[in-house]
Amino acid sequence: MQNALEIKDLKKSYEGGTVALKGVSLTIPQGDFFSLLGPNGAGKTTIIGIVTGLVTKTSGTVKVFGHDSVTDAATARSMIGLCGQEINFDQWMKPVDVLVNQAGYYGIPRKVALPRARKLLVDLGLADKADQIGFRLSGGMKRRLMIARALIHQPKFLILDEPTAGVDVELRRSMWDYLTTLTKEGITILLTTHYLEEAEQLAKHVAIINKGEIIANGTLDEILAMHDDSASREGYRGGRLEEVFVQLTHTA
Ligand SMILES: Nc1ncnc2c1ncn2[C@@H]1O[C@H](COP(=O)(O)OP(=O)(O)OP(=O)(O)O)[C@@H](O)[C@H]1O
Ligand SMILES: [Mg+2]
Repeated sequence: MQNALEIKDLKKSYEGGTVALKGVSLTIPQGDFFSLLGPNGAGKTTIIGIVTGLVTKTSGTVKVFGHDSVTDAATARSMIGLCGQEINFDQWMKPVDVLVNQAGYYGIPRKVALPRARKLLVDLGLADKADQIGFRLSGGMKRRLMIARALIHQPKFLILDEPTAGVDVELRRSMWDYLTTLTKEGITILLTTHYLEEAEQLAKHVAIINKGEIIANGTLDEILAMHDDSASREGYRGGRLEEVFVQLTHTA
C-alpha cells in the first residue's frame, strides 16, 4: 500500500542558527494513526510546517502520497488537512463561514460546502454555535472548529498539532472517538500531543523526537516494550508510555 507520508533525512536550520531538525526520517503508512511525541522545542511543529509547505526545509525530501512537497506542492497540499497548534481562524467570523470560506480556497462551491460545513459542525458538537461569532466559542470549541476546518475539503491525510490542548477530559474523549471514526473511514492521521495517555489510547505507531532527532520509532507495543522497569520512579503513577517517554527524553 502507498505511504501517506515519507520523510527522508530532513534537516532544518532556522535563520539565526537554531538547528531544529538534524536528519529526520519517518514513514507513515496509509490508514495509520501515527503519533509524533517530543518535549517542547523538539521539532514537531517544524516537521509539520515543512510537510504542509509553511516552512522551507534546509535539505531532505518529503512525499505526501508519493507527491513531492516542493516539486508537486499543490497536489501534496490538497491531500492534507491541517489543524495547527495556534488558534488561527478569524474570530470575527461565524464558524459556518469559517468552514465555507476555507472550502473556497479549494475551489469547492458554496452550495456543496454549506451542507458539508453544517454536518461537520454537528459531528464536532458545535451546531448551536454555528451562527455566532467565533469570539463566543470557548477554547475547546475553537480547537474543534479548527478540526472541522481541516476536514472541509475531505483530505486523505489529517495532521493535528496538539488539537486537545486545553480541552476538558470529557470532550477530549469525544474527540478521540471522532478521530477513531475518521481512521475507520480510511483517513490517515498524524497527531502531536503532550498528553501521552492520548497517544497510548489512539496510536498505531509512535515516534519520539528529541532535539531534532528521532530517538524511538515503532508500533505502540514496540515503544511500550522499551519501558525499563528498573528505572521506574517510586510512587509515580503516570501511564506506561509516559514513563518510556520520560526515560528516553531524559537520558538522550
Ligand atoms: N520561525 C522560527 N524561527 C526560528 N526558530 C524557530 C522558529 N520556529 C521554531 N523555531 C525553533 O525550532 C526548534 C523547534 O521548534 P518546534 O516549534 O518545531 O518545536 P515543537 O516540538 O513543536 O515544540 P512544542 O511542543 O513546544 O510545540 C525550537 O528551538 C524553536 O525555538
Ligand atoms: Mg509545536
